[in-house]
Amino acid sequence: MTKVLIATDKPFAPVAVQGIRKVVEGAGFELVLLESYPKQEDFIKAVENVDAVIVRSDKTDKSVIDAGKALKIVVRAGAGYDNIDLQAASAKGVCVMNTPGQNSNAVAELALGMMVYYVRSFFNGKSGTELKDKKLGIHAYGAVGKNVARIAKGFGMEVYAYDPFISKEDIEKDGVKCLGSAEELYSTCNFISLHIPANSKTKESINYSLLSRIPAPAVLVNTARAEVIHEADLLRIFEEKKAFAYLSDVEPVNKAEFEAKFKGRYFFTPKKMGAQTEEANINAGIAAAKQIVVFLKNGDRTFQVNK
Ligand code: 3PG
Repeated sequence: MTKVLIATDKPFAPVAVQGIRKVVEGAGFELVLLESYPKQEDFIKAVENVDAVIVRSDKTDKSVIDAGKALKIVVRAGAGYDNIDLQAASAKGVCVMNTPGQNSNAVAELALGMMVYYVRSFFNGKSGTELKDKKLGIHAYGAVGKNVARIAKGFGMEVYAYDPFISKEDIEKDGVKCLGSAEELYSTCNFISLHIPANSKTKESINYSLLSRIPAPAVLVNTARAEVIHEADLLRIFEEKKAFAYLSDVEPVNKAEFEAKFKGRYFFTPKKMGAQTEEANINAGIAAAKQIVVFLKNGDRTFQVNK
C-alpha cells in the first residue's frame, strides 16, 4: 500500500493531523506518523519504506533522501525549503514541493505581536510607546510580507517595502510605498521586518552596512531565518547604538552574549513559533497532503521547487 509519512519534530496541532489523515486515507493511502523524534536516525529509518513525506523544518538531507528507497515526493508544509537537499532529491528523481502562503498569516501575526510586546515594554508595567504613525519597512514582499503590511496598516503604521522580484504596481496597490533598494528601506524605517528566504545569496546579508542605516529607535524583527543575519555585525550595532532592538522567532547563536550585555533590547522565542497555530497547521498540512495525492495519482507537479 502507498505510504505517506508525516515527519515533524515540531508536531502539527492534532486537529491538523486528523485533517491530513482524512485526505491521505480518503485517497486509499496509509498514513505513518513520526512526531517529536529524539534522533535524526529515527527519521532516516521511518523514511525507508514510504512513498511520500510531509516535513516542516525537519532536516531532510542526502542521508534521508537516500534512505527512502520508494520515496517519490517530499512536501515541505510551509514556505522555506532551505532544510531540504534539493540536489540530492533531484539526483534521485524525488519531487520536492512547498505549500506557499498557507502559514503566512500566522507568521505575520507573530511579527506584529513581537513588535507590540516590545514597544509596550514586555508588559512589565512601565510606560511604553505605540506602533501608530511609526515607519515599518518590509524586506521582501511575498505572502508573509503582504500579511504584515495588511496588519500593520490596521495599527496605523506607515508601511514601506522593498522586493526586487515584485513589481512596484503590485506593492503599491496594497497602499504600501515601494522603495528601490534595501539600503533605502533601512535608511527610511525605524522598524524592519524580514521576510527573505535563506539561500546562498541571502545568508548573512543583513549586515553592518544595512543595520547601521536604521534610524533610532531601531527595531529589527526576524521571523525569517537566523542564517540571514550577520550576527557579529548585529552585535557590533548593539554595542554602538543603545536605541537598537532585535526581536526574533529563533534564538541567535550568541544568545548568551545578548543576555549578558543587552537586557531589555531583545526578545527571542525559545522555539520557532511563527507558523505554530492550528489554522496554519491545518492549511499547510492539508495542502501538503492534497499535493501528494494529486502528484501520486495524476503526476501533478504544481508547487515543485526542484525543477
Ligand atoms: C516556513 O518556512 O514555512 C516557516 O518558517 C514555518 O516553519 P515551521 O513549519 O518549521 O514552523
